[in-house]
Amino acid sequence: MEIRRYEPKDEKGWVRCRVLSFLDSAYFDNVLRQKEAYENPSIELVAVVEGEIAGLLELEYEVEEGTICSRGKGLGGMIWHIAVHPDFQRRGIGVQLLREAEKLAQEVGIHYLEAWTRDDEWVNNWYEKNGFNNVQSYLHVFMDGKEELQSSIANKMDDLHIVQAFAHYAGDDIEKVKKSFKRVHECICYDKQLM
Ligand SMILES: CC(C)(COP(=O)(O)OP(=O)(O)OC[C@H]1O[C@@H](n2cnc3c(N)ncnc32)[C@H](O)[C@@H]1OP(=O)(O)O)[C@@H](O)C(=O)NCCC(=O)NCCS
Repeated sequence: MEIRRYEPKDEKGWVRCRVLSFLDSAYFDNVLRQKEAYENPSIELVAVVEGEIAGLLELEYEVEEGTICSRGKGLGGMIWHIAVHPDFQRRGIGVQLLREAEKLAQEVGIHYLEAWTRDDEWVNNWYEKNGFNNVQSYLHVFMDGKEELQSSIANKMDDLHIVQAFAHYAGDDIEKVKKSFKRVHECICYDKQLM
């Protein structure tokens, strides 16, 4: 297994790896059809096994405090994507991608990392095992079907019938929201001090 910088020729493998990695997670329907590009400098890594992309990590970092990350002091690096292909999970690839990203982030003067993830217990365990602290959360609410939509969204345009909706809930009445909708995820912020 080799960990190296992403190259444009990796894009097809990157997209496939990301889609498959997320299938068993709370992000199963968060599908990207091309790799993201970033406004700020970034560390973009892939793990390659026998020529195939088996894992990826993307970290965009600040050159000015508070421009990407939501908390912390000093320059932050946001992990936008970390994913390991299901056939290669639990073999240490995620940890090795993280270690390499942390080394490179420290070399460019990044003080801390931030990452957001939903409520998959195994993924949260992975962050905690790797030195991240759970610092904040809010809810991702998916609304589907007449009952859920009528109770929450007023339809303001004639003949426009909302079929599905997605919302962020940042209030305190968490139990009420969880009871009102079938699909609600906690979205959790992790951070990790690097220096
Ligand atoms: C989270 C993820 C990146 C970890 O990468 P990985 O290479 O599989 O994990 P590592 O080998 O570095 O670490 C293994 C540890 O992660 C956790 N873990 C990983 N996959 C797991 C699984 N399928 N079931 C339970 N625990 C799991 C466990 O704590 C495991 O330790 P253990 O084997 O001693 O119990 C990877 O599993 C993944 O791609 N998950 C789906 C995508 C995702 O949710 N990304 C983060 C959200 S933005």
